[in-house]
Amino acid sequence: MRVLKCILAGIMTFLLTAITAIGVFAATEDTGFSDVDANAWYADAVIYCRDNGLMSGTSSTAFSPDAFVTRDMLAAIFYRMAGSPAVTGTDNFTDTLDGAWYANAVKWAAEKGIIDGYGNNIFGVGDAVTKEQMLTILWRYAGSPEVDTEKNFADESDISSWANAAVDWADSQNYMPDTENNYFHPKENATRAEVAFIFMKYLSEGKTAEQVPDDESEQKTNVLIAYFSCTGNTEAVAKQLNTILEADVYEIIPEIPYTDADLNYGDDASRTSMEMNDPSARPAISGSVENMEEYDIIFLGYPIWWGQAPKIMNTFVESYDFNGKTIIPFCTSGSSSIGSSADALHDLTEGAAWLDGQRFSTSTTESDLREWVNGLEVGLEIVK
Ligand SMILES: Cc1cc2nc3c(=O)[nH]c(=O)nc-3n(C[C@H](O)[C@H](O)[C@H](O)COP(=O)(O)O)c2cc1C
Repeated sequence: MRVLKCILAGIMTFLLTAITAIGVFAATEDTGFSDVDANAWYADAVIYCRDNGLMSGTSSTAFSPDAFVTRDMLAAIFYRMAGSPAVTGTDNFTDTLDGAWYANAVKWAAEKGIIDGYGNNIFGVGDAVTKEQMLTILWRYAGSPEVDTEKNFADESDISSWANAAVDWADSQNYMPDTENNYFHPKENATRAEVAFIFMKYLSEGKTAEQVPDDESEQKTNVLIAYFSCTGNTEAVAKQLNTILEADVYEIIPEIPYTDADLNYGDDASRTSMEMNDPSARPAISGSVENMEEYDIIFLGYPIWWGQAPKIMNTFVESYDFNGKTIIPFCTSGSSSIGSSADALHDLTEGAAWLDGQRFSTSTTESDLREWVNGLEVGLEIVK
């Protein structure tokens, strides 16, 4: 009897574990995000926004449904919804960065009057958007439609007067998620789940579905991975990076290849020692990037030499106009971090936005790279 009980208990434990595992797995499989349960009220919205290129995850596995949406992120969603039209020049805001991932979106949204600045040339980059602000922005995008009906939320008096028409309109169109006890909480920050839900409702009502670009290439950011590598470590990372980005790849090849003797850092008289000690050294490059003007984002890979980027990287960045582009450095090394290795290159690329770089080791995996890219917040599309 005692043995039978043990067996039964074992079977029950196994079944419970299996059911739980299947449940968790099913949710992850259905939505593609471990923090978006397939049964969540916003699950369909998250999938809709992801599939239509409006919002992506905050990492390769997470969507962060409860995180707040910032003004620059919201501008980017609207901009993508409009098909990422060409934008020229820069904005007049003092808190935006030329060439940043949101730069075109912010300029476009401000020019269209969809998201204005706060005044005094401040856009409010990084500021969370409240629920009433979010609806007002969408309402303006929709052409400020008039509404006959007037909703009365339990906290109606908390709604700012400038947001009244937008909230009434969104409610009359059923764009908003269900409220609890009829409280709208207008001054609370909008979450990513709420924003995804509202966009899905707005677009799936057939209002502007045609504004979602169906040609993926139209909204794809043009990315170049340019790297220099003598012993293959940086090249391996660059190639791995490209399997997840499917970007264009350019190898910076020295006109005079580096020999083993050249790379001998134990010899003060070796070519690399001499170059790294000479601020004016600019080793010549064989070949060039023909169409640099077409790229928005450039990943720049190099080995660390004496804590710095090799001087051939100076030659490379001095050869092109990086104004308005985003540059993301990465490196490999024996042990040194990327540190300030790219700082000397910053001054040579006027108007470019440099992101913090990352050092990778020879054991870097594809998933390490995917996690890094996902955290970059530059609107990159990960294909794998
Ligand atoms: C001249 C020279 C200097 C180096 N200096 C450093 C250094 O300061 N710190 C470090 O961790 N590794 C240093 N290394 C090691 C390289 O950064 C490392 O082997 C790198 O992964 C090589 O990349 P590659 O195979 O793409 O050429 C140095 C290597 C060379 C040849």
